[in-house]
Amino acid sequence: MKIAMACDHGGLRLKNVLKNYLETNGYTVEDFGTYTEDSCDYPDFAGKAAKAVANGTCDRGVVVCGTGIGVSITANKVKGIRCALCHDVYSAKMTRAHNDSNMLAMGQRVIGEGLALEILIAWLEGEYEGGRHDQRIAKMMAYEGEE
Ligand code: RB5
Repeated sequence: MKIAMACDHGGLRLKNVLKNYLETNGYTVEDFGTYTEDSCDYPDFAGKAAKAVANGTCDRGVVVCGTGIGVSITANKVKGIRCALCHDVYSAKMTRAHNDSNMLAMGQRVIGEGLALEILIAWLEGEYEGGRHDQRIAKMMAYEGEE
């Protein structure tokens, strides 16, 4: 599975921890930056990762900033993206099962690295349940076509 990753300066350290986990556990990572702790604008990087997921270059995406909020809002502006901001394992499982989320966002300033890794693993391994959730996702995504 190929994972698009991105962060800003506020998420660099956690992104690198998650990236290391992914690369040592059989995942391929495409890292869209940022690569330094110099102050930057999270939409520049989260947007690129989201586009890679939306156009199929990557299967899923993981984005990190200080709170996770900026990168998640950015990713959700890209057509086809369902980015879930998760800071607990239950939400990570449920967003795969019920929302079929294709991107995960987390905040480096909100949670520790150990919990972030557990969330990542739960999200990666979580299976979409389908069934009644299909029509809900279809209704959700239909808003993308509206003015
Ligand atoms: C950067 O200071 C911070 O605003 C950013 O990382 C993020 O938390 C925005 O949502």
